[in-house]
Amino acid sequence: MKVEQFIKKQIKQIKKEVGAQKAVVACSGGVDSMTCTILAHQALGKNLAAIFVDDGLMRESEPEKVVAVLKKLGVKTKLLPDQTRFFRALKGKIDPEKKRKAFREVFYQVLGETLKIQKAKFLIQGTIKADIMETVGGIKTQHNVLEQIGINPQKYGFKVIEPLKFLYKPEVCQVAQVLGLPKEIYKRMPFPGPGLAIRIVGEVTPKKIRIVRRTTTIVEQELEKCSPFQAFAVLLSDKATGVRGGKRIFGNIIVIRSVDSKDAITASASEIPWKVLQKIRKKIIKEIPSVVRVLYELTPKPPATIEYI
Ligand code: XMP
Repeated sequence: MKVEQFIKKQIKQIKKEVGAQKAVVACSGGVDSMTCTILAHQALGKNLAAIFVDDGLMRESEPEKVVAVLKKLGVKTKLLPDQTRFFRALKGKIDPEKKRKAFREVFYQVLGETLKIQKAKFLIQGTIKADIMETVGGIKTQHNVLEQIGINPQKYGFKVIEPLKFLYKPEVCQVAQVLGLPKEIYKRMPFPGPGLAIRIVGEVTPKKIRIVRRTTTIVEQELEKCSPFQAFAVLLSDKATGVRGGKRIFGNIIVIRSVDSKDAITASASEIPWKVLQKIRKKIIKEIPSVVRVLYELTPKPPATIEYI
């Protein structure tokens, strides 16, 4: 792929499709949506509204970080806090696909309402080829795939533009770099749209999100130097017996997941030095009193997927 040509072509295409109308870009802070935001910004300027849906399922300080990075790049981003609505939709849901679909429904409802307020007709989003393949292939319903599985986005009141839909992750990173996005973004680990919700097995609650958010920060910080494709923490629904302060407790189990991959279609467990794993375990146990066990996951993709849900 010739990156410069790709960028020119996409900017031209976005301009042509949107014309004199307005568009909204949904940015989640991952490399795909950030790249998409910059492409759309270069194509549409003031006819683009960039928004960040603060769904309460993001990593620590993420909304503020994303807004600050985009500001530096000349893009003003509006934060849309809608946490209660997402938690309400996820309440009581245990089945992974039901959780994913519940997230998708609220996400697009929120976006539909925003587009209406903005008087915009187009939603620009950073769907990539792997998202479409996994959803169409029946592996899992990625939150940002609609038309490809027969959902007409007009249901939510807009048309969708997906400039990156023929690219895989490494190509998106190349585009991001040429567009001038900072290294902290184009070298960043992928993070899924439905956020920490898909790193909790079983029902998603604000309390569980707080546990998985904190443990994710610990895992990301400690594994950064190992440069995995993706690394994070997962909270299981099962509990296990442990001892805290000399007393028996029936506590939480955290899984550390770290994988090496090129395109997220296949992946293998990273070979993390024992010392590093022990340091993570120590920090998690020290900081989160409800956790009694920390496990390291060895399974490649397939048969496992990268995320747990
Ligand atoms: P899996 O778990 O299917 O993940 O092996 C493959 C890659 O996709 C990311 N992922 C998602 N990204 N929306 C996204 O934007 C989603 O619904 C979603 N589900 C998984 C995952 O983090 C990994 O990089």
